[in-house]
Amino acid sequence: RKKIRRISTGVRSLDELLGGGIETRAVTEVVGEFGSGKTQLCHQLAVMVQLPEERGGLGAKAIYIDTENTFRPERIMQMARARGLDPDQALNNIFYARAYSSDHQMILVEHAKSIVKQHNVALIVVDSVIAHFRSEFPGRENLAERQQKLNKHVADLLRLADAYDVAVVITNQVMAQPDVFFGNPLRPAGGNILAHGATYRLWLRKSKENIRIVKIFDSPYHPEGEVSFRITEEGLID
Ligand code: GTP
Ligand code: MG
Repeated sequence: RKKIRRISTGVRSLDELLGGGIETRAVTEVVGEFGSGKTQLCHQLAVMVQLPEERGGLGAKAIYIDTENTFRPERIMQMARARGLDPDQALNNIFYARAYSSDHQMILVEHAKSIVKQHNVALIVVDSVIAHFRSEFPGRENLAERQQKLNKHVADLLRLADAYDVAVVITNQVMAQPDVFFGNPLRPAGGNILAHGATYRLWLRKSKENIRIVKIFDSPYHPEGEVSFRITEEGLID
């Protein structure tokens, strides 16, 4: 494998599970039910990537493609403050774009490429990767076309990640039916998702109150096992 870099998640136990953090030259797919913390993790990574290397970051900027209008600048600033970063600076280091359709989302990946060429970007977030595709291609009859477009989208992202040594993080909401999708979180009732493309997957699960459990799936080189973290005012912590 080519040399990869890692971005700390800010959660030590999760970093350990990941071998140091989320990887460049890979697509990390974060799956979980509503409220499981996918968007919070994306926000945190967009801050963590900015930290210097000795603090787990890459001293770099992020691109944030938001399809559900759930990006919260105040939350970024709050997390930045908690990590000792200047909040306004931290916000300025995130190239934000709202995607209004699946086609627009795919075009934004092209734009992302030109930004990556000109700026020190080490993270691209697409939250959620699937929402537009689901609403535009509903039902079984559209599944093949949806899957084809989605696979191309993820392949584009993976190419970008690999060519420019960037980490890509995509999110994917799945229903909370552990018994159904245990062992395969991407085949819940109601339609399956990314058959191919994602390099590895993090499955987030709600526990009590602000506690979340995370497990790595479908990785040929990560260890089995799960860890927990808490979502607090300061962000995600052990
Ligand atoms: P969907 O997008 O609906 O699929 O959910 P998600 O997985 O993206 O969930 P999200 O990351 O939005 O997590 C929501 C959880 O984070 C909720 O339980 C909130 O209580 C918690 N949360 C969000 N913002 C804050 C905050 O500013 N402070 C604290 N303490 N918790 C927060
Ligand atoms: Mg979300």
